Amino acid sequence: MLCDRDCCRRFCLCYIILLIVLCVCYTIAVLASHVQQKIVIVNANLSRFELTTSPTTSLFFNLSFTMSIHNSLWFDIDAANYQDMEISCYYNTIEFDSIDLGNFGLDVMQTSIVNHSRSGNVTVNLTSNEVDAFKRSSETGYFDIEIWLQGNRMFEDYDGENKPMYMSYPCKLRLQLITSQNSTTQGNFTPVKCH
Ligand SMILES: *[C@@H]1O[C@H](CO)[C@@H](O)[C@H](O)[C@H]1NC(C)=O
Ligand SMILES: *[C@@H]1O[C@H](CO)[C@@H](O)[C@H](O)[C@H]1NC(C)=O
Ligand SMILES: *[C@@H]1O[C@H](CO)[C@@H](O)[C@H](O)[C@H]1NC(C)=O
Ligand SMILES: *[C@@H]1O[C@H](CO)[C@@H](O)[C@H](O)[C@H]1NC(C)=O
Ligand SMILES: *[C@@H]1O[C@H](CO)[C@@H](O)[C@H](O)[C@H]1NC(C)=O
Ligand SMILES: *[C@@H]1O[C@H](CO)[C@@H](O)[C@H](O)[C@H]1NC(C)=O
Repeated sequence: MLCDRDCCRRFCLCYIILLIVLCVCYTIAVLASHVQQKIVIVNANLSRFELTTSPTTSLFFNLSFTMSIHNSLWFDIDAANYQDMEISCYYNTIEFDSIDLGNFGLDVMQTSIVNHSRSGNVTVNLTSNEVDAFKRSSETGYFDIEIWLQGNRMFEDYDGENKPMYMSYPCKLRLQLITSQNSTTQGNFTPVKCH
C-alpha cells in the first residue's frame, strides 16, 4: 500500500484546500478585471424639458446632475489614467448635451465628482410618433434620459506599452420634471448606478 487511511485523508484535505484557494484567487482576479470603476449619478434635477415648434422643432432643457467616478482598483501601483473622457446626455436618440472631461487621473480608491448644470436648446428632427411620446411624457411629468460616460482607461501591457481600453457606462434615469407648482420632488433622488 502506498498510503494508509490517515495519509489519504490528509492528502484529500490538502487537495480540497488547494481547490478552494484556487477558486478564491480566480474569483478575485475575475472581479478585479471587471470592476475597475464605479459610476453613479448621485443627484439630478430636470427643471425644463419642452419642445417648441416654430420656426424649427427645438428641445429646450435645463438639467443639472452630479456624477461620481470611483476608481475601484485597490492593488494597482499607478493611478488610473483616463483619456478623452466625455459625458453625453440623450433623450431617445437625441444627444442634447455633452461635456468634455478630457484627461484625468485617479489614485486607487479615489473618487472624482463632476457637477454639471446647463440650460440650452437643440434643433431636433422627430417623427410624429416621437412627438406623441414626448407629449405623453410631458403629461405624466417623467422623462427617460440617458447619461453616458465614455472614454479610455489606459493600461500598461506586458511589454510596458500603454494601451487604451474603451469604456462606456450608460446611466438610465427616469427624471421627474421639477416645476414651480411641484418642487417637492427635489432632494429625494435615489442614486443611479451606471452599467
Ligand atoms: C435652470 O434650473 C435651475 C434650477 O434647477 C435654476 O436655478 C436656473 O436658473 C435655471 N437656468 C435657466 C437658464 O433657466
Ligand atoms: C437639485 O436640487 C436640490 C434642491 O434644490 C439640490 O439640493 C441639489 O443639489 C440639486 N442637484 C444638482 C445636481 O444640482
Ligand atoms: C459638487 O456639488 C456638491 C453638492 O452640490 C458639492 O458638495 C461638491 O463640492 C461639488 N464638487 C465640485 C467639484 O464642484
Ligand atoms: C438656443 O441656444 C443658442 C445657443 O446654442 C442660443 O444662442 C439661443 O439664444 C437659444 N434660443 C433661445 C430661444 O433661447
Ligand atoms: C428628418 O428625418 C427625416 C426622416 O427620418 C429625414 O427624411 C429628413 O431628412 C430629416 N431632416 C433633417 C433636417 O435631418
Ligand atoms: C408633485 O409630485 C408629487 C410626488 O411625485 C406628486 O404626488 C404630485 O401629484 C405632484 N403634483 C403636481 C401638481 O404635479
